[in-house]
Amino acid sequence: MKSSNNKCICVILFLFFVVELFILKMQKQIEQNKINIKLNSAGLSHVPSEDKFHIFLVWKGQHIPNIYLKAFETLVKFHQNAEIMILSNELETKIFSGYNNSKNIFIVKYNLTQMVYQQPGYDFVEKAVKILNGQNINNLVVTPVHISDFLRYFLVYSYGGLYLDFDMFVLRNLESYKNTIGVDQNKSHVCSKKVYDSPKAKQFTCLCNCMFSFDRHHPFLEHALTIYEKWWSECQGYGPGGGTMLFTLLEYYYDKINFMPNEYWICNKYIRVRNNELDDSSPAIQDAINNCFVFHFYGSGDPNFKIENIEKTLLGRVYNRISYYSLNK
Ligand SMILES: *[C@@H]1O[C@H](CO)[C@@H](O)[C@H](O)[C@H]1NC(C)=O
Ligand SMILES: *[C@@H]1O[C@H](CO)[C@@H](O)[C@H](O)[C@H]1NC(C)=O
Ligand SMILES: *[C@@H]1O[C@H](CO)[C@@H](O)[C@H](O)[C@H]1NC(C)=O
Repeated sequence: MKSSNNKCICVILFLFFVVELFILKMQKQIEQNKINIKLNSAGLSHVPSEDKFHIFLVWKGQHIPNIYLKAFETLVKFHQNAEIMILSNELETKIFSGYNNSKNIFIVKYNLTQMVYQQPGYDFVEKAVKILNGQNINNLVVTPVHISDFLRYFLVYSYGGLYLDFDMFVLRNLESYKNTIGVDQNKSHVCSKKVYDSPKAKQFTCLCNCMFSFDRHHPFLEHALTIYEKWWSECQGYGPGGGTMLFTLLEYYYDKINFMPNEYWICNKYIRVRNNELDDSSPAIQDAINNCFVFHFYGSGDPNFKIENIEKTLLGRVYNRISYYSLNK
């Protein structure tokens, strides 16, 4: 009797133990799911939606000069259905509320650590955040350009879409240009000994990371994130992870990328005369509007950037023809 009772208790205890283990395991799983969901969505104040085309911009600083706002207005004008996200921890949302008829414009705050945790590029972020918090790691420096280059790769890699610099007047809708980046033809800039030819762009030895569009999880950007830390820590300087770094990856992904000549992709055809005054009848104005994708005015995020007599320049004249507003407003 006693022994069977003991057996019984043992079995019950054992069963209880099994059930308890099961419950614990379930709880752990639920908790883990919670953490995953948090890590996916956290790190960004607004998570890019599933069903819209994404456009990413990055801005550093609280102040944004008028000319960049004008540029932004042209982007909005041609992309009413896209979700436009400005990555900035400093800008106030209300600065952009006047452009938000589409209700698709978001100032997105981000926490680099949370956003990138356990994903490609985290080795860079781990060091960069420590340095930004005042730690010394081999005297390495982190600048806004280093963060901006990293962010653009990470966002387009993670969510897919278009990245463009803030200093661009947009001249058409860009949603249909997939896996596309701009390159400098005919060896007009030399960043590499390698020279490539593609159907649309000939003899290029340089590319610009100022405007590109890629599908989510494109291997080219994944690779860029993976080598970012190495290039940043070994080269430092202005843009260690910029066009030169990306160019070294073309040999692996050449057939997965569409190359566009920068003459028209970012309107470098007029790079030398873009800020010169010119007559309103100049054919350059209509050529730029008809053939350029964006007009890059090379402000480099400078918060004091101004162009003298802008309304008489090629840039100003292009703007006045495509915009609803006047530059003088
Ligand atoms: C645009 O509208 C959406 C939806 O109302 C809002 O969540 C977002 O913050 C607005 N953006 C700006 C810049 O005002
Ligand atoms: C960013 O996220 C990390 C990890 O959750 C946290 O430790 C850190 O305090 C956050 N940074 C800021 C500025 O909120
Ligand atoms: C490169 O050559 C092509 C063909 O001759 C020409 O149309 C284009 O303007 C040139 N581009 C540059 C940047 O020199």
